Amino acid sequence: MSEDYILVTGGAGYIGSHTVVELLNSNYNVVVIDNLVNACMESISRVEEITGKTVPALQVDLLDKNAIKSVFKKYKISVVMHFAGLKAVGESVELPLLYYHTNIGGTVNLLEVMKEYNVKNIIFSSSATVYGTPQYLPVDENHPVGGCTNAYGKTKFFIEEIIKDVCNADKSWNAVLLRYFNPVGAHKSGKIGENPQGVPNNLMPFVAQVAVGRRDHLTVFGDDYDTPDGTGVRDYIHIVDLAQGHVAAIKKVEAGCGCVVYNLGTGIGYSVLDMVKAFEKATEKPIPYKVAPRRAGDIATVYANPQNAEKELGWKATRTLDEMCEDLWRWQSNNPNGYKASS
Ligand code: WQD
Repeated sequence: MSEDYILVTGGAGYIGSHTVVELLNSNYNVVVIDNLVNACMESISRVEEITGKTVPALQVDLLDKNAIKSVFKKYKISVVMHFAGLKAVGESVELPLLYYHTNIGGTVNLLEVMKEYNVKNIIFSSSATVYGTPQYLPVDENHPVGGCTNAYGKTKFFIEEIIKDVCNADKSWNAVLLRYFNPVGAHKSGKIGENPQGVPNNLMPFVAQVAVGRRDHLTVFGDDYDTPDGTGVRDYIHIVDLAQGHVAAIKKVEAGCGCVVYNLGTGIGYSVLDMVKAFEKATEKPIPYKVAPRRAGDIATVYANPQNAEKELGWKATRTLDEMCEDLWRWQSNNPNGYKASS
């Protein structure tokens, strides 16, 4: 009897690679596909080092439907974990068609091939960005969605709706939509971590690059928000907690759940300056910063109500802010240039 595999799309990326580690640690067989636009296979080599297990990893673009089919022909897939997609918020505002074509077109191809091969269990990497500007806090899964203003966030919202419609049309489908808040940190080994191309859009990779000497200061986008210290407040969650949430979701789809949605967050909000201070404490390195005007599209405060995931997935984030900073620093200091050989 051929073994079942979990197919991880975008599995060479930051969240994907950390999730592959946790899947392997839970004794699942994993096959990875990634188009390597925003990732490199070195991350998979590191995953194999960490786990001592081998991971078939194929360069596949979800816009190439025949390439997807070749994977389903070769491997008996029980569940698909779908991370693959473009995710730069600012870029998506400038290039909406690229984001709709890539993220939505790729997902429709994937879903069509899943249907063809009778694979009807999917766990989708969604984002809290689908909530737009919160109407209440903490944000729970019943909060209105679709308020996002950038094309990236809209692709996450549209893909959620597409998956919901597929599950409504065919009750044999099972889907868990996971809405992430702000993933940060790295695996304790320091071998894998966030490896942004070019200038990091997100706060903590930028802070880490300041600490390692790749950037001379952080720009704080606005200190005039209605928050305790005027800077933006977010729900930062350790990447390994996030990855373990995905492993917990497998049992849900395999038990049969229809289409369900969960927030993956800690329920705790920290400001930009809280994060800077926490990182300075973890690294004993100063993080110089300059305050600039607000970034277009940013909101003041968002953090999760994570109770449903705790109740229904038996999952809860446990890693502290100090661990997030210490683990991020171990990755960044061991790999000043990310996966590229140090120049
Ligand atoms: C956090 C805070 C910024 C950078 C985005 C996406 C979301 C998800 C996570 C993919 C804000 C401030 C940031 C900097 C700063 N991505 N900041 N200087 O915007 O909450 O969420 O990334 O799924 O979908 O929307 O994360 O890390 O960019 O910003 O002051 O150089 O840090 O203003 O308050 P964000 P972020």
